[in-house]
Amino acid sequence: MTAPSKFDLERVPRHIAIIMDGNGRWAQRRNRPRLYGHKVGVETVQEIVECAREWGVKVLTLYAFSTENWKRPEEEVGGLMSLLKAYLLSELSKMLKNSIRLTCIGNIEKLPGDVRSVLQTTMAETAGNEGLVLNLALSYGGRLELIQAVKKIAARVQDNTLDIDDIDEELIADNLYTASLPYPEPDLLIRTGGEARLSNFLLWQASYAEICFTDIMWPEFRRDAFASAISDFQNRERRYGKTSAQIKSR
Ligand code: IPE
Ligand code: IPE
Ligand code: MG
Repeated sequence: MTAPSKFDLERVPRHIAIIMDGNGRWAQRRNRPRLYGHKVGVETVQEIVECAREWGVKVLTLYAFSTENWKRPEEEVGGLMSLLKAYLLSELSKMLKNSIRLTCIGNIEKLPGDVRSVLQTTMAETAGNEGLVLNLALSYGGRLELIQAVKKIAARVQDNTLDIDDIDEELIADNLYTASLPYPEPDLLIRTGGEARLSNFLLWQASYAEICFTDIMWPEFRRDAFASAISDFQNRERRYGKTSAQIKSR
């Protein structure tokens, strides 16, 4: 496969995070059950992971299930959990062949036991891989992540192993789920499905992410759309609060 000429392969974002939205609406517009949209969405996941690997992305974080998604009808939650388990089981050999390391962020204690066990096995089996880090956000919520970080930090203050004055950005980042990722903060955050909101995703880590909202529904977000998002990213100037002249004179 050849890389699309649309973007510069030398400047691919290191960490890309995606809010994979629009499966349900995509299916319903076709008079199919929502779960059909999730099934086709898994095919998109396979294609996007393959592109990310081929283009040299270091970390790909996929928002697969939020803390709020537990409120969906039982049947849909169950269907999503089965799809997740089937995906992990079917992809393991490909992950090993392509040196993909699977990691996850979120409150995974809430996942059903069988899913959690497959997840843990997959993470353990791929732990030594040095290629793309495929990081799944599962039962993930940015607010819950911050609550857990605050509790861990507060406990250390309480037992006198940490001074309040030593609480800084680095310490907070070190207590988030993303602490052990090679690049904890996404450079590019994509949301498919037409909504322009974060829905509790990476609230701390996305502070300076370039955000790309697209109307394309997740089941249809394939190689070319992904390449366009990267190309769009490369045409932006990341100023981090400075002026354009300061950035150019670097
Ligand atoms: C995203 O698609 C997948 C999950 C949230 C699990 P949705 O299921 O939210 O699809 P829409 O937004 O209802 O179309
Ligand atoms: C965000 O999508 C969560 C995931 C993609 C996993 P939702 O469909 O749950 O978000 P809202 O409800 O539209 O904000
Ligand atoms: Mg949605």
